[in-house]
Amino acid sequence: MGDLEIRPLLDAEHRSSLNLFLRSMHRPPVDDAAWDAYAGTFEPGRTLGAFAGEELAGTALAWSSSLRVPGGDQLGMAAISRVGVRADHRRRGALTGLMRALLADAAERGEPLCGLQVSEPVIYGRFGFGLASRLDRVTVRADLARFHPGLPAGGRVRLVDGTREEIVDVLAPLHDRCAVGRTGAMVRARPMWDALFGWMERPLRAIVHTGPDGDDGAALFMSSRTPGSFGARLDVVDFVAADTGAAIGLWRFLLSIDLVREVFVFARPTDELVADMFVDPRAVTSRVSGDDLWLRLVDVERALRARSWACPLSIEVRDALLPGNSGVHRVSESGVERGGGAADIVVDVDVLSQLYLGATSATSLAGVGRLTAASPEALARADTAFALAETAYSGTSF
Ligand SMILES: CC(C)(COP(=O)(O)OP(=O)(O)OC[C@H]1O[C@@H](n2cnc3c(N)ncnc32)[C@H](O)[C@@H]1OP(=O)(O)O)[C@@H](O)C(=O)NCCC(=O)NCCS
Repeated sequence: MGDLEIRPLLDAEHRSSLNLFLRSMHRPPVDDAAWDAYAGTFEPGRTLGAFAGEELAGTALAWSSSLRVPGGDQLGMAAISRVGVRADHRRRGALTGLMRALLADAAERGEPLCGLQVSEPVIYGRFGFGLASRLDRVTVRADLARFHPGLPAGGRVRLVDGTREEIVDVLAPLHDRCAVGRTGAMVRARPMWDALFGWMERPLRAIVHTGPDGDDGAALFMSSRTPGSFGARLDVVDFVAADTGAAIGLWRFLLSIDLVREVFVFARPTDELVADMFVDPRAVTSRVSGDDLWLRLVDVERALRARSWACPLSIEVRDALLPGNSGVHRVSESGVERGGGAADIVVDVDVLSQLYLGATSATSLAGVGRLTAASPEALARADTAFALAETAYSGTSF
């Protein structure tokens, strides 16, 4: 790490940290108008800088969030974002210093989890993160999108006009009420909403779906037009639905807007049957799997205790970065016991983090050499212990 100093940034340093991040993502620095959208997106004390002397060489931040874990508990999670290192300071340990500091800070605050989304998957495994849930990016051609006659009608949809603050005032509580019923869903800190608006290069429009019991779905989208052609493309950057009825109502509305050529939805659960809504399933012209949430168990014992288990299992964890997590954990519905002895499975903490939401099986990970099991029976027990009836999904871009 050389002589880098890692410290929380002062308010006055936030704009340069944002600009450093934007430049590292090949985006222009903010002007005053864009800064207005971003200014409120820094949680006090949670944006870090890596300094080489007086110069800001790298930055990363965290927002206070929480995650619904298997069984229904909500666990504190530091949502890490805006990781960037100046091009002329790369590979000198700035990221490593920032990640160590963020993990230590989460531990100090009593947050058992850290979560992030990655630009490059190769970066974060070394810090104990594993890909814990997946999503699908879905494109539908509007002219082919004739709905099956038997498909539920959906409720009423209204456009929500107003300033960013006014829109977020409506959508934020709706999200936290409607979306957090699924394993993997995150509670969104208010700055995460403002950050979403700041990040998008075109204005966002909002819609809200009302079902039999009130508002139960919402979407944020932006339109783009190809010069010389009729029909716009809608990019839906946020799509929240309490249940299938709300999701269908939102799909129906988006595809019924006049002069829309296609609708691209940035994130949907992998188990949503989009093609089956249409008489012609090829209305879905593309469905691409993507990374949803990368997770890091910071306090392994607490995280294991918080989740439900279909059967008892003993897990030997190896965590070079946070060695207090290393050792055998015997998990069951009655809690976690730590101790020595032989374990059913042996995993590095990034692999345990990948298993945690039940989205990947122990057998698959053993097949690619990421996990060792004491016996075929122990491996089968691990599959049963971690498995869930539902597919984990976060659906929050941050
Ligand atoms: C990715 C980035 C943050 C890495 O920062 P950095 O300060 O150079 O990273 P470090 O020097 O701490 O490197 C830590 C380790 O990760 C490796 N690493 C870092 N970035 C990597 C990459 N993009 N691909 C592969 N390995 C990488 C380094 O080689 C090093 O490994 P080593 O210890 O075995 O040598 C930086 O290059 C960057 O800002 N990139 C553009 C923006 C970006 O991608 N941000 C991440 C958003 S999710």
